[in-house]
Formats: sequence, C-alpha cells, structure tokens
Amino acid sequence: MDIKKVLVLGAGQMGNGITQVFASKNYSVVMADISEDATKKGLATIEKSLGRLLKKERISQEQFDSTLANITTTTDFTSASDSDLVIEAVSENKDLKFKIFRDLDEKMNKNAILASNTSTISITEIAAVTSRPDKVIGMHFMNPVPVMKLVELIRGLSTSDEVYSAIESTTKELSKVPVLANDYPGFIANRILLPYINEACFALMEGVGTVEGIDTVAKLGFANPMGPLSLADLIGLDTCLAILEVLHGDLGDSKYRPNPLLKKLVAAGHYGRKNGIGFYDYSGETPKPLSFNL
Ligand code: 3HC
Repeated sequence: MDIKKVLVLGAGQMGNGITQVFASKNYSVVMADISEDATKKGLATIEKSLGRLLKKERISQEQFDSTLANITTTTDFTSASDSDLVIEAVSENKDLKFKIFRDLDEKMNKNAILASNTSTISITEIAAVTSRPDKVIGMHFMNPVPVMKLVELIRGLSTSDEVYSAIESTTKELSKVPVLANDYPGFIANRILLPYINEACFALMEGVGTVEGIDTVAKLGFANPMGPLSLADLIGLDTCLAILEVLHGDLGDSKYRPNPLLKKLVAAGHYGRKNGIGFYDYSGETPKPLSFNL
C-alpha cells in the first residue's frame, strides 16, 4: 500500500496541523473544509506555524516553500477522490462522522484507506457504515500536532493487518511515534486524560483551588508542561465535554460524568483558546485566569 496523496477533511486546529506534518514530509496534501473561509484560516495557521520554525532556523526557506507548495485546499473533497489516504478531522459528532464516512466510502477510490482522527468515537462503529471496514482505522494525533510526537493508532474490529502496517509505517515517516490502542471509548489517551481534566473542574467547582492554583499545582508539582484547565482550553472545552459524554455513555460508569461547571462554561460559549475564552481569557498579551459565579 503506497501512500503518496493524502486528503485531510477539516481545516480546524487538528486538520491544519495534520496537513502541515504530512506536507512537510513531502506528501501531496489536499485540505478540505465546507467553506473557503475555513480553508483560508487553516492555511494561515500553517503559514504562521512554519514561519515560527523558519524564524528559529529549524527549517530552511526552501522547506517552508516546498511544504506550502505540497498543500492545496478545496471545498469539494471529491476533487481529491484519487487520494491513497483520507484523514477525517471534523468535530466530535457521531452523526456527522457517520455521514462523512458514508460519503467517503461512496466517492473515494475503492483502495483508499479511510482514517479518523476521532478522540473517542468507536472506529468499529464508524467502519460499520462503510463497505470497507478492513480499510478503516483511527489515527489520533495530539494537539498541537506539529509538536506532539504521539499518534495513537486504533484498530477497529475489522481493520486489516495490511492497513495497520501501512499506517504504522506512514506514522513513522512523519517522525511520529505510533502506539496501538484497541477500540474502547477514549482509547488510551483520553481514557486517562479526560478524567484528570474533569476532576480538575470538580476541584474548581468545589472551591478547592482557583484556576491559577490548580494549574500551578500540576505544572510545578507534577512537572506537566501545562495545567489541566489550561490544557482543557487548548483541547477545546466543547471537545472535552463531547469526549466525556462518550466515555460516560459508552462505559456507563458514573466516574466519567461530565462536570456541571464544564457543561455550564460550554453552554456560555467558553470553548477555550479557539474562541479566545475558556477557563482563561485570551484577549490580552498573556492568558488571564478567570473566576466564575459558582
Ligand atoms: N504549532 C506549532 N508549534 C507550536 C505550537 C503550535 N500550535 N505551540 C507551541 N509550539 C512550539 C513552539 O514553537 C516551541 O517550539 P521550540 O521548543 O522548538 O522553540 C514549543 O512548541 C514550545 O512552545 P512554547 O515555548 O510557546 O510554549 P510551551 O513551552 O509552554 O509549550 C506546548 C507549549 C507545546 C503546548 C506545551 O505546553 C505542551 O506540551 N503542553 C501539553 C500539550 C498536550 O498535553 N497535548 C495533548 C492534548 S490531548 C490531545 O490532543 C488529544 C485530544 O483528543 C483531546
């Protein structure tokens, strides 16, 4: 299985990061989204990220130019139906993913591998809406994609050995480290991470500590690069809530119940860094920790 041309569905924070890492390793990448505005924003983020690397002399001007030259954008993914690999990176909504995979199955080349960057939705269930469950796999990148070395590879019930090994080699070619996870809610990463973030929300809600206090404990006490509330803002509070809802619903254990304050923040439009407000306010030079009416 020779993978040369890649279609990335979704130009948001994960989609544009995935596009950047493939393009920087000389894959030809088509980044698709539903509006031109979305693809333009995605491309601008890639240029900014590459610009940072150029400024620090981590990449040459030639690498900057060739990475961008490897990327095209579209609002109609069927223009890239001859791709060898598709990576779906749209929001964490089961029905939306099912619809997209039905469409991909119908319109993509019959040999194409269909991967999902889902954080937690079952790969087996996604695969079941297609006529090629053996060619469906999870490829779960971590945020920020250009920086984080891990890619969780999730085998659905029917993912073939051939597809797994092609995706494992491709992941290594991206200079990332693949780790196999079997298909249970949250896989490995979010099964561990989200209860931690959720518990930090409970600690905040119960007044155990402030936003700043909780994050400082994790940074200075556990040597984590960022605290759980700051990390929740990076992931997106709406995404954290969606993951917890899947963990809670599919594992049926009350320990995964989403924290009420997290729900309230999402209802109030606090999505985190992506819209400038979460547990912190990102409108100034440095993030400002917020306090809430509990
Ligand atoms: N794109 C590209 N590069 C970025 C970046 C981005 N969005 N954000 C930061 N970087 C680079 C910086 O340029 C810098 O590069 P350098 O070391 O080569 O100079 C490096 O990352 C460190 O950045 P900063 O100095 O600006 O800031 P920090 O040292 O605070 O690091 C961080 C920022 C890399 C985000 C770090 O805080 C970190 O590792 N945080 C934890 C991230 C994490 O846990 N991610 C996993 C989330 S879970 C997930 O994604 C799963 C999902 O399903 C929920």
